[in-house]
Amino acid sequence: MATPTLEKAEAGFADSPYITVTFRIRRFNPEISDEATWQDFQVEIDPKERVLDGLHKIKWELDGSLTFRRSCAHGICGSDAMRINGKNRLACKTLIKDLNPEKPITVEAIKGLTVLKDLVVDMDPFFQAYRDVMPFLVTKGNEPTRERLQSAEDRERFDDTTKCILCAACTSSCPVFWNDGQYFGPAAIVNAHRFIFDSRDEAGEQRLEILNDKDGVWRCRTTFNCTDACPRGIEVTKAIQEVKRALITRRF
Ligand code: SF4
Ligand code: F3S
Ligand code: FES
Repeated sequence: MATPTLEKAEAGFADSPYITVTFRIRRFNPEISDEATWQDFQVEIDPKERVLDGLHKIKWELDGSLTFRRSCAHGICGSDAMRINGKNRLACKTLIKDLNPEKPITVEAIKGLTVLKDLVVDMDPFFQAYRDVMPFLVTKGNEPTRERLQSAEDRERFDDTTKCILCAACTSSCPVFWNDGQYFGPAAIVNAHRFIFDSRDEAGEQRLEILNDKDGVWRCRTTFNCTDACPRGIEVTKAIQEVKRALITRRF
Protein backbone atom coordinates (compact mmCIF):
# COMPACT_ATOMS: atom_id res chain seq x y z
CA MET A 1 0.00 0.00 0.00
CA ALA A 2 1.37 3.44 -0.93
CA THR A 3 2.31 5.66 2.01
CA PRO A 4 0.04 8.73 2.26
CA THR A 5 1.54 12.13 1.61
CA LEU A 6 1.93 14.71 4.37
CA GLU A 7 -0.83 16.77 2.74
CA LYS A 8 -3.32 13.90 2.83
CA ALA A 9 -2.31 12.83 6.32
CA GLU A 10 -2.83 16.38 7.62
CA ALA A 11 -6.12 16.80 5.84
CA GLY A 12 -7.33 13.50 7.32
CA PHE A 13 -7.98 11.92 3.86
CA ALA A 14 -5.52 9.14 4.37
CA ASP A 15 -6.47 5.78 5.93
CA SER A 16 -3.30 5.93 7.96
CA PRO A 17 -1.73 9.07 9.38
CA TYR A 18 1.73 7.61 8.76
CA ILE A 19 4.13 8.92 6.13
CA THR A 20 7.64 7.80 5.26
CA VAL A 21 10.25 10.27 6.43
CA THR A 22 13.98 10.15 5.76
CA PHE A 23 16.09 10.97 8.78
CA ARG A 24 19.62 11.90 7.67
CA ILE A 25 21.75 11.55 10.80
CA ARG A 26 25.36 12.55 11.34
CA ARG A 27 26.95 9.42 12.82
CA PHE A 28 30.25 9.30 14.67
CA ASN A 29 31.78 6.41 16.55
CA PRO A 30 35.43 6.94 17.56
CA GLU A 31 35.83 3.18 18.00
CA ILE A 32 35.10 2.66 14.30
CA SER A 33 36.42 5.74 12.51
CA ASP A 34 37.86 9.23 13.09
CA GLU A 35 35.43 10.57 10.50
CA ALA A 36 31.74 11.36 10.96
CA THR A 37 29.41 10.20 8.18
CA TRP A 38 25.77 10.80 7.23
CA GLN A 39 23.39 7.85 7.39
CA ASP A 40 19.82 7.77 6.10
CA PHE A 41 16.96 5.97 7.85
CA GLN A 42 13.44 5.60 6.42
CA VAL A 43 10.87 5.87 9.19
CA GLU A 44 7.09 5.38 9.04
CA ILE A 45 5.79 8.09 11.31
CA ASP A 46 2.78 10.29 12.00
CA PRO A 47 3.85 13.82 11.03
CA LYS A 48 2.24 15.07 14.23
CA GLU A 49 4.92 13.20 16.16
CA ARG A 50 8.20 14.75 17.15
CA VAL A 51 11.77 14.31 15.95
CA LEU A 52 12.47 12.55 19.26
CA ASP A 53 9.80 9.96 18.40
CA GLY A 54 11.56 9.38 15.07
CA LEU A 55 14.90 8.90 16.82
CA HIS A 56 13.28 6.45 19.22
CA LYS A 57 11.87 4.45 16.31
CA ILE A 58 15.30 4.30 14.69
CA LYS A 59 16.98 3.24 17.93
CA TRP A 60 14.37 0.70 18.97
CA GLU A 61 13.46 -0.75 15.56
CA LEU A 62 16.30 -0.10 13.12
CA ASP A 63 19.68 0.51 14.75
CA GLY A 64 20.17 0.18 18.50
CA SER A 65 23.62 1.75 18.27
CA LEU A 66 22.24 5.22 17.54
CA THR A 67 23.27 7.34 20.53
CA PHE A 68 21.57 10.48 21.82
CA ARG A 69 20.55 12.03 25.12
CA ARG A 70 17.01 12.57 26.27
CA SER A 71 15.15 12.28 29.54
CA CYS A 72 11.88 14.12 30.16
CA ALA A 73 10.65 14.18 26.53
CA HIS A 74 8.65 17.31 27.40
CA GLY A 75 10.99 20.28 27.04
CA ILE A 76 12.01 20.45 30.69
CA CYS A 77 15.31 18.64 31.23
CA GLY A 78 17.22 20.27 28.36
CA SER A 79 19.10 17.10 27.41
CA ASP A 80 18.10 16.68 23.76
CA ALA A 81 19.31 19.86 22.07
CA MET A 82 20.57 19.00 18.58
CA ARG A 83 20.93 20.58 15.15
CA ILE A 84 17.80 19.73 13.19
CA ASN A 85 17.74 20.93 9.59
CA GLY A 86 20.71 23.14 10.47
CA LYS A 87 19.10 24.85 13.44
CA ASN A 88 19.48 24.18 17.15
CA ARG A 89 16.26 22.78 18.60
CA LEU A 90 15.01 20.34 21.22
CA ALA A 91 14.11 17.05 19.51
CA CYS A 92 11.20 16.59 21.92
CA LYS A 93 9.69 19.96 21.02
CA THR A 94 10.07 19.76 17.25
CA LEU A 95 7.16 18.35 15.26
CA ILE A 96 7.91 16.43 12.06
CA LYS A 97 5.18 18.31 10.17
CA ASP A 98 6.93 21.63 10.84
CA LEU A 99 10.10 20.49 9.08
CA ASN A 100 9.05 19.96 5.47
CA PRO A 101 9.25 16.16 5.89
CA GLU A 102 8.87 15.52 2.15
CA LYS A 103 12.63 16.18 2.19
CA PRO A 104 15.23 14.43 4.40
CA ILE A 105 15.35 15.78 7.94
CA THR A 106 18.98 16.30 8.94
CA VAL A 107 19.96 15.66 12.54
CA GLU A 108 23.43 16.29 13.95
CA ALA A 109 25.14 17.10 17.22
CA ILE A 110 25.24 20.70 18.46
CA LYS A 111 28.36 22.61 17.41
CA GLY A 112 31.33 23.88 19.42
CA LEU A 113 31.50 20.97 21.88
CA THR A 114 33.44 17.75 21.25
CA VAL A 115 31.27 14.99 19.81
CA LEU A 116 31.63 11.81 21.86
CA LYS A 117 29.30 9.60 19.84
CA ASP A 118 26.60 10.37 17.25
CA LEU A 119 24.46 13.15 18.81
CA VAL A 120 26.14 13.14 22.23
CA VAL A 121 28.64 15.92 22.97
CA ASP A 122 30.95 16.50 25.92
CA MET A 123 29.01 18.98 28.07
CA ASP A 124 31.80 19.46 30.65
CA PRO A 125 33.08 22.84 29.31
CA PHE A 126 29.49 24.09 29.15
CA PHE A 127 28.75 23.15 32.76
CA GLN A 128 32.14 24.43 33.93
CA ALA A 129 31.26 27.92 32.63
CA TYR A 130 27.90 27.61 34.39
CA ARG A 131 29.58 26.68 37.68
CA ASP A 132 32.10 29.52 37.29
CA VAL A 133 29.41 32.22 37.52
CA MET A 134 28.19 30.89 40.91
CA PRO A 135 24.61 29.96 39.94
CA PHE A 136 23.24 30.01 43.48
CA LEU A 137 21.97 32.58 45.96
CA VAL A 138 24.74 34.15 48.05
CA THR A 139 23.84 35.96 51.27
CA LYS A 140 25.87 37.06 54.25
CA GLY A 141 25.03 37.28 57.93
CA ASN A 142 22.65 35.26 60.01
CA GLU A 143 20.07 32.84 58.72
CA PRO A 144 16.72 34.63 58.47
CA THR A 145 13.90 33.47 60.71
CA ARG A 146 11.39 33.78 57.88
CA GLU A 147 11.47 33.82 54.08
CA ARG A 148 13.42 36.56 52.33
CA LEU A 149 10.85 39.02 51.04
CA GLN A 150 10.93 40.43 47.53
CA SER A 151 8.53 42.76 45.75
CA ALA A 152 6.75 41.61 42.61
CA GLU A 153 8.68 44.29 40.71
CA ASP A 154 12.02 43.03 41.96
CA ARG A 155 11.04 39.47 41.07
CA GLU A 156 10.05 40.55 37.58
CA ARG A 157 13.57 41.93 37.04
CA PHE A 158 15.05 38.47 36.48
CA ASP A 159 11.93 36.43 35.68
CA ASP A 160 12.96 35.71 32.07
CA THR A 161 16.33 34.22 32.98
CA THR A 162 14.83 31.84 35.57
CA LYS A 163 13.37 29.85 32.65
CA CYS A 164 16.71 28.43 31.50
CA ILE A 165 16.85 24.61 31.28
CA LEU A 166 20.60 24.46 30.49
CA CYS A 167 20.10 22.82 27.13
CA ALA A 168 23.13 24.59 25.54
CA ALA A 169 21.19 25.44 22.36
CA CYS A 170 22.26 29.07 22.79
CA THR A 171 25.95 28.59 23.57
CA SER A 172 26.38 26.00 20.81
CA SER A 173 24.81 28.35 18.26
CA CYS A 174 27.16 31.24 19.08
CA PRO A 175 29.91 31.89 16.51
CA VAL A 176 32.15 33.39 19.20
CA PHE A 177 31.92 30.13 21.17
CA TRP A 178 32.58 28.08 18.02
CA ASN A 179 35.76 30.08 17.52
CA ASP A 180 37.74 28.70 20.46
CA GLY A 181 35.30 27.42 23.10
CA GLN A 182 36.85 29.78 25.67
CA TYR A 183 34.00 32.32 25.77
CA PHE A 184 31.78 31.81 28.83
CA GLY A 185 28.85 31.64 26.43
CA PRO A 186 25.31 32.95 26.60
CA ALA A 187 23.93 30.22 28.91
CA ALA A 188 26.43 31.01 31.67
CA ILE A 189 25.68 34.73 31.33
CA VAL A 190 21.93 34.09 31.45
CA ASN A 191 22.40 32.16 34.69
CA ALA A 192 24.64 34.88 36.13
CA HIS A 193 21.96 37.43 35.20
CA ARG A 194 19.37 35.39 37.11
CA PHE A 195 21.31 36.05 40.36
CA ILE A 196 22.95 39.43 39.63
CA PHE A 197 19.51 41.03 39.32
CA ASP A 198 17.97 39.17 42.27
CA SER A 199 17.47 41.75 45.04
CA ARG A 200 18.08 39.06 47.70
CA ASP A 201 21.52 38.13 46.40
CA GLU A 202 24.74 39.74 47.66
CA ALA A 203 27.36 38.48 45.21
CA GLY A 204 26.42 40.51 42.13
CA GLU A 205 29.73 42.42 42.13
CA GLN A 206 31.66 39.17 42.32
CA ARG A 207 29.79 37.66 39.38
CA LEU A 208 30.26 40.84 37.35
CA GLU A 209 34.01 40.67 37.94
CA ILE A 210 34.03 37.05 36.80
CA LEU A 211 32.25 38.09 33.58
CA ASN A 212 34.59 41.07 33.11
CA ASP A 213 37.21 38.50 32.10
CA LYS A 214 38.73 38.49 28.60
CA ASP A 215 36.47 35.52 27.84
CA GLY A 216 33.45 37.10 29.50
CA VAL A 217 30.55 39.26 28.32
CA TRP A 218 32.65 41.62 26.22
CA ARG A 219 33.26 38.86 23.69
CA CYS A 220 29.58 38.87 22.74
CA ARG A 221 29.15 40.45 19.30
CA THR A 222 25.37 40.77 19.57
CA THR A 223 24.81 38.15 16.88
CA PHE A 224 21.39 37.09 18.28
CA ASN A 225 21.87 33.40 17.29
CA CYS A 226 21.45 32.55 20.96
CA THR A 227 18.11 34.32 21.25
CA ASP A 228 16.86 32.63 18.06
CA ALA A 229 17.95 29.20 19.34
CA CYS A 230 16.52 29.33 22.86
CA PRO A 231 13.62 26.84 23.15
CA ARG A 232 12.36 28.66 26.24
CA GLY A 233 12.01 31.97 24.41
CA ILE A 234 14.43 33.72 26.76
CA GLU A 235 15.66 37.08 25.48
CA VAL A 236 19.24 35.92 25.80
CA THR A 237 20.94 38.81 23.98
CA LYS A 238 18.95 41.33 26.02
CA ALA A 239 20.11 39.64 29.25
CA ILE A 240 23.72 39.82 28.03
CA GLN A 241 23.29 43.52 27.23
CA GLU A 242 21.90 44.12 30.73
CA VAL A 243 24.92 42.45 32.28
CA LYS A 244 27.25 44.58 30.12
CA ARG A 245 25.38 47.71 31.21
CA ALA A 246 25.60 46.67 34.87
CA LEU A 247 29.35 46.25 34.45
CA ILE A 248 29.65 49.81 33.17
CA THR A 249 27.26 51.50 35.61
CA ARG A 250 27.73 49.13 38.56
CA ARG A 251 23.99 49.44 39.09
CA PHE A 252 21.84 46.32 39.15
FE1 SF4 B 1 18.86 26.60 26.64
FE2 SF4 B 1 17.77 29.05 26.51
FE3 SF4 B 1 19.06 28.25 28.73
FE4 SF4 B 1 20.41 28.76 26.52
S1 SF4 B 1 19.24 30.24 27.71
S2 SF4 B 1 20.72 27.01 27.85
S3 SF4 B 1 19.03 28.05 24.94
S4 SF4 B 1 17.18 27.38 27.87
FE1 F3S C 1 26.88 34.90 20.70
FE2 F3S C 1 24.43 35.49 21.39
FE3 F3S C 1 26.35 37.26 21.64
S1 F3S C 1 25.04 34.33 19.62
S2 F3S C 1 27.70 36.78 20.00
S3 F3S C 1 26.20 35.35 22.73
S4 F3S C 1 24.25 37.67 21.04
FE1 FES D 1 13.96 16.76 28.16
FE2 FES D 1 13.76 17.19 25.54
S1 FES D 1 14.04 15.31 26.55
S2 FES D 1 13.96 18.64 27.10
